[in-house]
Amino acid sequence: MAPQTEDINHQDSSTDQNRPISTIVIIIAMQTEALPLVNAFELIEDADSVFPKGTPWVRYHGTYKGLNVNIIWPGKDAVLGVDSVGTVSASLVTYAAIQALQPDLIINAGTAGGFKAKGACIGDVYLACEVAFHDRRIPIPVFDLYGVGLRQGCSTPNLLKELDFKVGKLSTGDSLDMTPQDEASILANDAVIKDMEGAAVGYVTDLLKVPAIFVKAVTDIVDGDKPTSEEFLHNLSAVTVALGKAVTRVVDYIAGKAVSEL
Ligand code: ADE
Repeated sequence: MAPQTEDINHQDSSTDQNRPISTIVIIIAMQTEALPLVNAFELIEDADSVFPKGTPWVRYHGTYKGLNVNIIWPGKDAVLGVDSVGTVSASLVTYAAIQALQPDLIINAGTAGGFKAKGACIGDVYLACEVAFHDRRIPIPVFDLYGVGLRQGCSTPNLLKELDFKVGKLSTGDSLDMTPQDEASILANDAVIKDMEGAAVGYVTDLLKVPAIFVKAVTDIVDGDKPTSEEFLHNLSAVTVALGKAVTRVVDYIAGKAVSEL
């Protein structure tokens, strides 16, 4: 059984960082966010799921510019029929996708709320350099840091130079809205954007030593005067188009390169 552990951690070695990227997994929480990319990469839905029977998790896959591209969407909640957003589903599908597909790179793509006080505007696309949680408050020494769960995104200086995205820290929690306590934690995290999956994906990719990139497009201004859910729903489809274009540019850039070249 020993080889399995080595397999899981194979991305850890520096030789793998220098090998051309072959398989990528894109984790996307909402179907609306996923479909433009499914179309752009001409992916097809898995007929035989690689995931445990009964899970709603969906894999779209195909070959694009020599890359084996997989988009993983956690699917609809079996009872309520809405997208399975949030950290629990995100961490589960990230774990299952890494186990099943052994990707060289994970991209977590999605929408986010942005802080205008930190320069975010509707439609901006950010590459998150760091991810952390803002709703896991454990006021006991060291557990407090565990709760925050800070993780780094994969270093991509060349990609950033070429594609010219905004860069900022991402804070993750399981609520679309923001309580005053969340706000204080987000400010402590020095975040410019807030989402519901990034730090959960970051936890799993760090655990299994798979490099991860976080691409987030701003649908709503968290420190503005519009109700978040209204602004989010109003801008979702337009911003999803911008997100799709941005992720396509990232994947175009990645094709033929090694992680160490990003
Ligand atoms: N996704 C889009 N907008 C968001 C917000 N304001 N908070 C969390 N996740 C989001």
